Amino acid sequence: MAKKKEENKEYTIEDLPGVGPATAEKLRDAGYTDLIELAVASPKDLAELAGIGEGVAQKIIAAARKYANVGDFETGDTIMERRSKLTKLTTGSKEMDDLLGGGLETQSITEFFGEFGSGKTQIVHQLAVNVQLPKDKGGLEGHAIFIDTENTFRPERIVQMAQAYGLDPKEALKKIHVARAFNSHHQMLLVDKAMEVAKEFPVRLLVVDSLTAHFRAEYVGRSSLAERQQLLNRHMHDLLKFADINNAVVAVTNQVSAKPDTFWGDPTAPIGGHIVAHNATYRIYLRKSRGNKRIARLIDSPSLPDGEVVIAITNEGIRDA
Ligand code: GTP
Ligand code: MG
Repeated sequence: MAKKKEENKEYTIEDLPGVGPATAEKLRDAGYTDLIELAVASPKDLAELAGIGEGVAQKIIAAARKYANVGDFETGDTIMERRSKLTKLTTGSKEMDDLLGGGLETQSITEFFGEFGSGKTQIVHQLAVNVQLPKDKGGLEGHAIFIDTENTFRPERIVQMAQAYGLDPKEALKKIHVARAFNSHHQMLLVDKAMEVAKEFPVRLLVVDSLTAHFRAEYVGRSSLAERQQLLNRHMHDLLKFADINNAVVAVTNQVSAKPDTFWGDPTAPIGGHIVAHNATYRIYLRKSRGNKRIARLIDSPSLPDGEVVIAITNEGIRDA
């Protein structure tokens, strides 16, 4: 029985005429978790990924188009007002801040990519402390959400970094909301949860460390590549939405193998390749140097000159070398 569409009601996949729990599960397993994704899907892809007939897929898409909230147009002045709130978060290194035009920008995604031990996790720990600093110290006077996919969040390290700024370490830890993500689906769901946490606390930083590890482990082989890219794409859209709505910084990490010759010659080398590169506003490539030094290079920024700086991972945290 066709249900009448009510204004302002959020519809779910089960609300679609002809979609029962079993079909809904197939759709979700295939990565279609809300109506807008179904509304913009191609019948062929949907049929293939969800293992349903193409005729059924067509009907589901047509129904989703009726029920989906496709979003509204915004006038230029609304966008202007939102953009006027853009601010920057310090990295702890003056040089890296300068490279980024003053620090990590709110309302965008910054990707740190590099090989193991290149300092990605250290940097996002530092950001979780820095976001709490007063604005005149380069902070955003806010809380952090840390989605930890590799079990590498270390409260002890936060304590060290907080103490280095004279912050009360206990208070600093209280302002970091950490969740372990057990697989890629869980990781994606945690962004919805983060949205709720941000209604309760002034969250100005969302970290995903690592953005790509689960996806890489779970979707192996050519046949699952399209699905992996589709899910990563959606995940990054959700992250960007979080950044926009909360005027927050989103920082994600992405491990790549350090074979510079093949890497630079082959743009598909980083995991999630084009999709991640395309969705990240700023991309920083980290390389190991001598001892505790790391080279940070800004890649392909539309608004800033490319360049590289040297930073140091010290006991106090990320600093100029
Ligand atoms: P993967 O997650 O394996 O891809 O690596 P990553 O890029 O996240 O590297 P990570 O940020 O974990 O960097 C590890 C390096 O940071 C170590 O090799 C140490 O040099 C340094 N480091 C980690 N913890 C500390 C610490 O407590 N004090 C100091 N001074 N350095 C640390
Ligand atoms: Mg790490």
